[in-house]
Amino acid sequence: MKKYKDINIDLKDRSYKILINDNIGDILFNVVSKIITRPKVFIITDENVAVFVLPTIRKILDDGGIETQVVIIPSGEKSKSFSQLENLIKELLNLKIERQDTLIALGGGVIGDLVGFTASIIFRGIDFIQIPTTLLSQVDSSVGGKTAINMGEGKNLVGTFYQPKAVIADVSLLSTLPHKEIISGYAEVIKYAVLGNKAFFEWLKVSQKELLDLNTDLLVEAVATSCKMKAQIVEKDEYENGSRALLNLGHTFGHAIENKMNNNGSKILHGEAVGLGMCLSAQFSNKINLCSADDTNQIIALIEDAGIPSHYSDLKVELKAIEITDILSKDKKRKDDKNTLILLNGIGEAFIKNGIEDNVINDFLISVGFK
Ligand SMILES: NC(=O)c1ccc[n+]([C@@H]2O[C@H](COP(=O)([O-])OP(=O)(O)OC[C@H]3O[C@@H](n4cnc5c(N)ncnc54)[C@H](O)[C@@H]3O)[C@@H](O)[C@H]2O)c1
Repeated sequence: MKKYKDINIDLKDRSYKILINDNIGDILFNVVSKIITRPKVFIITDENVAVFVLPTIRKILDDGGIETQVVIIPSGEKSKSFSQLENLIKELLNLKIERQDTLIALGGGVIGDLVGFTASIIFRGIDFIQIPTTLLSQVDSSVGGKTAINMGEGKNLVGTFYQPKAVIADVSLLSTLPHKEIISGYAEVIKYAVLGNKAFFEWLKVSQKELLDLNTDLLVEAVATSCKMKAQIVEKDEYENGSRALLNLGHTFGHAIENKMNNNGSKILHGEAVGLGMCLSAQFSNKINLCSADDTNQIIALIEDAGIPSHYSDLKVELKAIEITDILSKDKKRKDDKNTLILLNGIGEAFIKNGIEDNVINDFLISVGFK
């Protein structure tokens, strides 16, 4: 059996392990059997993952004598809704789920967020395990315990902090994921390097091509380094009262662009918007004399080489600066009617900057091409 990477996330009685390898069959049964209290689990997955991954997972558990009940929900962001939450809970109750049972979230961030939220409220909280199947969920959403559903008024507005009992990430499961989704998840990998790990940034520069070709040894390394960094940040600030906000690097601009584009019908994936958001954060930092031109250019070059939008012109639609600042004016991180951004002193040196005026951001956006 090939060695797996094993990261402990230390949160007192909510601590758990993140296990990363390229063959889930080597570890799944052992991890699950240590957590469950009776030989039965409830797997919740989406329509795509049910085709590509579910049969493997079921067989491993069936072979080990663990019964699997499965609920399949529609794929896509629309499943992070109150109505889907209600349907899921009703299905679980019809399947006679009990308080001691364990849910398995098998899928990307949509499944992880919805199942995590369900686990946190059904019977006032039951155990759940994350088996992330997208790169984004392996490096980001499955770790750290944020669960959520969306409202018409905005994304992730209803949710809980609720940690899983284990995270099992098999990078070989990414082989069926569309390339666009790989790129989107990879933007979050770059985020960890840019926000706090210069050596990782240098490693990505030489490993990027093979990583995007899904070299599994390199993927295990990249997922493990990303999870280790997320674990350290979450350990210091589980409930996001301070430094956990560093994980939002690229997300303030990114969310505004994502929100605007997805509302006007010109689709952009979350990670693509975050990639452009990181470039904008670096350029903004450079403009106010924080990040050097060389570091700024290196960040933009890495993102551009990965095929992630790095300039306004990559969006191929017209966005107005005022539309972006208007969305930022409703951002949850806003304080005293001024903006908070995650900025950079250089590669690997992110920090939280409060008190940025709307007009400063507006002028900056116009200077990089926004209308
Ligand atoms: N909780 C957190 O901390 C956190 C962090 C970041 C993002 N998120 C959330 O994560 C969600 C995005 O997650 P995502 O990018 O994983 O999207 P997703 O869950 O929608 O998955 C993307 C697509 O890939 C498909 N898919 C998943 N695994 C596959 C596989 N192995 N092979 C083939 N197809 C597969 C899915 O069916 C879906 O169509 C958003 O809702 C976002 O808000 C949460």
